[in-house]
Amino acid sequence: MVDLRSLEKQFLASHIKEGGTVCDFTMGNGHDTLYLSRAVGPRGKVYAFDVQERAVASTRKTLETGGAYDNYELILDSHANAANYVKGPICAGVFNLGYLPGSDKRVTTMVDSTLRAVQCAIGLLDDDGVVLICVYPGHAEGAAEGEALCDWLSGAYDRKEYCVGMFRILNSPDSPFFIAVEKR
Ligand SMILES: C[S@@+](CC[C@H](N)C(=O)[O-])C[C@H]1O[C@@H](n2cnc3c(N)ncnc32)[C@H](O)[C@@H]1O
Repeated sequence: MVDLRSLEKQFLASHIKEGGTVCDFTMGNGHDTLYLSRAVGPRGKVYAFDVQERAVASTRKTLETGGAYDNYELILDSHANAANYVKGPICAGVFNLGYLPGSDKRVTTMVDSTLRAVQCAIGLLDDDGVVLICVYPGHAEGAAEGEALCDWLSGAYDRKEYCVGMFRILNSPDSPFFIAVEKR
């Protein structure tokens, strides 16, 4: 059976360069931030964003106990403002949309800011870089984000410059799926 998370990691691993710059646009509890910190190594740089202080605190703990390198910057701000912080091109950007696991679900990613942040992330991509977006269509805002992203990304970028693909389990439409935007 397909394991979505390991498939995503395969995509990421084929684009991430040691010493490169990467972004976790939805840090949550920091599992992706930790993966990215280890993947780019001590000479790399990880920017991570979240709008909730408890996510930043939880991520800091995950990084401190998980063997992260001292190569990260945790930013309490919306990913829609990423361009104000990120310096230089990125080889990978990760979005894991939705709400903080274990929270009351009141704070979730939203269509408008998600679209702006994904556009910003694609604009930051280095050649051969990738933006991965994991979408959760099983809740209303997640379904709306999925539809908006698919509509927009189907026509927004020239195929000669970007490859925009999607992995979705067709016979389980409410299951999470991911979109990958790869720059040539
Ligand atoms: C599914 S969780 C991310 C899980 C995380 N990748 C992990 O490994 O634990 C989604 C996160 O997005 C955050 N979020 C919601 N709106 C945001 C925004 N505008 N900018 C950045 N993060 C946001 C939520 O607070 C939540 O922590």
